[in-house]
Amino acid sequence: MIRLIKSSDLPALEWDGAYSHFRQVYREVYEQSRIGRTLPWVIDLPSEGIIGQLFVQLDSQNKRFADGSSRAYLFSFRIKPKFQGQGWGTRLLSSVEKDLIDRGFHWTTLKVSKLNELARQFYEHRGYAIIAEEQGEWRYVDHQGIQRVVIDPSYCMEKCLVKEKSPCET
Ligand SMILES: CC(C)(COP(=O)(O)OP(=O)(O)OC[C@H]1O[C@@H](n2cnc3c(N)ncnc32)[C@H](O)[C@@H]1OP(=O)(O)O)[C@@H](O)C(=O)NCCC(=O)NCCS
Repeated sequence: MIRLIKSSDLPALEWDGAYSHFRQVYREVYEQSRIGRTLPWVIDLPSEGIIGQLFVQLDSQNKRFADGSSRAYLFSFRIKPKFQGQGWGTRLLSSVEKDLIDRGFHWTTLKVSKLNELARQFYEHRGYAIIAEEQGEWRYVDHQGIQRVVIDPSYCMEKCLVKEKSPCET
């Protein structure tokens, strides 16, 4: 079942410690979802619990990526290793894109590391095109309150969600 997270899901998003460093980031994403700025989707299987996630930023200061009405930014997309390559990521992405179309959005945007060739191909095979490159520097505060700096040169990608219905307008 694909659904939005509840506050009680937050510990499960740490995946047994692998993502504890994102505790505050996920808490913030959850808080932002309560005021309609994010949509944190997960796949929740009855026997396994949460096996994947894909978060959506509906609005942000950088309107090129998310502008609250037409463009939405996808981030934190991952499927647990044991479940990768079985179609779960495709199902989750399709479901999130359909939900965004229903909300009136025309474009999805995302960033993918230049080192992550498999993921870039995954997106290209699903209609995403590279529109820019960037240095990929971002900061977050980890679960111990320490500010971390990540430098991960990335491709910026986008996809028009409504090609068949009407031309995409930015
Ligand atoms: C990328 C990811 C979300 C795709 O989900 P998935 O459930 O494995 O993908 P599906 O089974 O629906 O589809 C398989 C496709 O994913 C690609 N893929 C990307 N990374 C993969 C991985 N680690 N294992 C298996 N397939 C992977 C396959 O090449 C295949 O591509 P194709 O169908 O276009 O030929 C998932 O593999 C993952 O979590 N990877 C690690 C984290 C990551 O890279 N996230 C993206 C950050 S931008």
